[in-house]
Amino acid sequence: MSMPSLSSPSRSGLRRVGRAHLFIGLLLPLWTPLLAVPEGPKLGVSITQESILPLDISVFPEGTGLPPGKGTAVEGKMQFEALCQGCHGVKGSGGDAEELVGRSPLNGSRPDQTVGNYWPYATTIFDYIRRAMPLNAPLSLSNDQVYALTAYLLYLNGIVTETSEMNATT
Ligand code: HEC
Repeated sequence: MSMPSLSSPSRSGLRRVGRAHLFIGLLLPLWTPLLAVPEGPKLGVSITQESILPLDISVFPEGTGLPPGKGTAVEGKMQFEALCQGCHGVKGSGGDAEELVGRSPLNGSRPDQTVGNYWPYATTIFDYIRRAMPLNAPLSLSNDQVYALTAYLLYLNGIVTETSEMNATT
């Protein structure tokens, strides 16, 4: 009486698997074009040290990175009316974009974040405006313009006077 062989069924199993591999192997090249994910548009952007330099303008809370320049709220008012008011409303009261003025507490039922109650550092206002505003032309302002606009927003929020000069040390 012969014992049932353990090897023969598994060998034929292997043969089946082998055939399946051959089948897939032969057919795959035909399928590949159908399975291929279409390529996205080529952006043509090559990132180099020089290309990121204009973005390397971070100003830190204690003032590291502030450039030379100066401005007061009086000058900033003119800049604001020309460049910002269209979106942020008269005196930053909030038009289509963020309201920039107000000192109501943030722990109410509908907290309203503004430069006056939410932004802890003047240096961050400078950094944000220089980097991101006006929304339709970021990085287009001179340092004097940004100092003046920072002064104006601080003035509107009752933090500095109309003639206080904003510069890298103040
Ligand atoms: C085309 C519309 C537009 C213009 C022009 C514009 N802004 Fe803005 N601004 C926005 C929008 C929208 C936001 C909110 C962006 C966000 O939350 O990501 C914003 C956000 C801000 C903030 C942050 C407000 C907050 O509390 O988060 C400041 C500060 C600011 N703008 C200043 C300025 C200044 C200064 C100018 C003029 C030089 C200016 N903006 C011009 C649309 C504009």
